[in-house]
Amino acid sequence: MPSTNIMMKDIKEIIIPEEVIQNRIKELGEEISNSYDPEDEVIMVCILRGAVIFAADLARHINLPVTIDFMDVSSYGQGTSSSGVVRIIKDLEENIENKHVLIVEDIIDTGLTLKHVVDMLKTREPASIKIVTLLDKPERRVEKQVEVDFNGFEVPDKFVVGYGLDYAEKYRNLPFIGVLKEELYS
Ligand code: XMP
Ligand code: MG
Repeated sequence: MPSTNIMMKDIKEIIIPEEVIQNRIKELGEEISNSYDPEDEVIMVCILRGAVIFAADLARHINLPVTIDFMDVSSYGQGTSSSGVVRIIKDLEENIENKHVLIVEDIIDTGLTLKHVVDMLKTREPASIKIVTLLDKPERRVEKQVEVDFNGFEVPDKFVVGYGLDYAEKYRNLPFIGVLKEELYS
């Protein structure tokens, strides 16, 4: 992306460039493909909306006949801090009983959102549940019971945007992960 992109003026620094993200996604796709039996019925459960761009790229590096479904949960409003409240806005269309669920997340921060999603999906008796996240902010983890199977990158405790992640619904279409200038959200 040229530096003349009109959103660049809001970005303080790029912390993960586009090529680095794309190379890591290829590796994750291979790791994920090798972790399943080719006969397994795998459903990618993409958590809306942040994980959409990651899931789309990742799916094309998974060498298995996966299906893709979406769930929309919300723990954040328009701001940058967790409300602690997780709402289900849109449920899955597919029945996941006896299927292998791969939850695709954009970022794990406190871990509360993911814990809630995993607990709910477990009640539907899938054959297995694995979790892949593009980003992990381990410093902020509150919920330690949820184990991530595949992790793209660890990021510092800064509010990040781009590659699916937003601030007030903007910046999702930046191809890199960056930190927003503080004056924009203070
Ligand atoms: P928890 O705290 O439940 O939060 O693990 C996970 C969800 O919070 C959002 N989140 C962020 N979104 N930049 C964002 O654009 C961030 O730095 C950030 N940290 C957390 C995100 O939606 C994630 O699914
Ligand atoms: Mg999210």
